[in-house]
Amino acid sequence: MIKPYRIRAIEVNPGLVLSPMSGVTTRPFRRLVKELNPGAVGLVVSEFVSVEGMTRGSQRTMEMMRFSEEERPYCVQIFGYDIARMRDAAMMVQDFGADLVDINCGCPAPKVVKRGGGCELMRQPDHLKEIIREVRKSISIPLTIKIRAGWDEDSRNAIEVAKMAEGEGVEALAIHGRTRSQLYRGNADWDLVQEVAEILSIPVLGSGDVVCRATAEARLKGKVAGLFIGRASMWNPFIFSEILHNQPSRLTGNFDLMLDVLFRYIELLKEDFQESSCGGKFKQLASQMCRGALWRKQLLTLNSIREHEEFLKRVRDGSWRPKGALVDDANETPTIDSCDQFAAS
Ligand SMILES: Cc1cc2nc3c(=O)[nH]c(=O)nc-3n(C[C@H](O)[C@H](O)[C@H](O)COP(=O)(O)O)c2cc1C
Repeated sequence: MIKPYRIRAIEVNPGLVLSPMSGVTTRPFRRLVKELNPGAVGLVVSEFVSVEGMTRGSQRTMEMMRFSEEERPYCVQIFGYDIARMRDAAMMVQDFGADLVDINCGCPAPKVVKRGGGCELMRQPDHLKEIIREVRKSISIPLTIKIRAGWDEDSRNAIEVAKMAEGEGVEALAIHGRTRSQLYRGNADWDLVQEVAEILSIPVLGSGDVVCRATAEARLKGKVAGLFIGRASMWNPFIFSEILHNQPSRLTGNFDLMLDVLFRYIELLKEDFQESSCGGKFKQLASQMCRGALWRKQLLTLNSIREHEEFLKRVRDGSWRPKGALVDDANETPTIDSCDQFAAS
């Protein structure tokens, strides 16, 4: 069902992409997902990186681009507004050794759109056209973009933007089928994704609410080349293999496996980040992934990565016992509230 697609010489095989998620798809998370899904993640994308930070020489921003060879093909997504900075940043991505550059045209966060970046670019298609033109002629690696359905219900211009982008030499395009106003509410419009895929000749990828094999099958229709998977990779980091090979969920109720994944994530986080920044990133995944585990709530009360690690060791060796009444949150289902919070930040 999931076929490969090509962006020039780059084969995305299979057509399942780890969608960019700010604060989530750091190198440790991307490596974790690649490791847990051997051969099942066709492409990984960095979290979005500010062209302002890059071109002003921010060390922290540059570190957001780092990647490991085993991650290839690897795409860095940039966001911003200024044409010269977009161009310079794209050239820096190329020099850094990434395989692809992606321009973010979908971020709804006020702090991004107020400065002209993210989805605001869809409201200024002429400006976006200039950015694309300038970036395209300055780099030799493929350029892709990621858009939304439009700014709001009254300005759903994904089709116009997509046609313009293809005309300017963009080589693949992903659409999250919600408007900026919707944030993460309502359903992603996959009819729109299919319509754009019909019209364009370049690969068109869809994003939004792919959470299992059934949702993947329902969405990968017509000429849609592949699927971006975002939030579900936090709820279930094995999702790529499970979709590709049509396997049942390995993680549900398998608390030993959850522990294995968490210990590995701690290792990977410590390789990249100072201990003081690991705790928050760790909790982000643990809170999403460990539903149903009796120890989840207590784990999430801890803040430092050392405490997390010590606690999980006690869980593993059986010396941890839940205090008070047992609270089984197995029925708690993932919500998208946290995404709305992100979008409003
Ligand atoms: C926490 C979070 C951060 C995100 N950051 C980015 C980003 O940096 N760049 C981007 O293009 N999309 C970003 N997105 C959007 C996702 O890539 C994806 O398009 C969206 O979540 C819908 O897909 P999903 O239902 O598979 O999560 C983010 C989404 C979330 C939840």
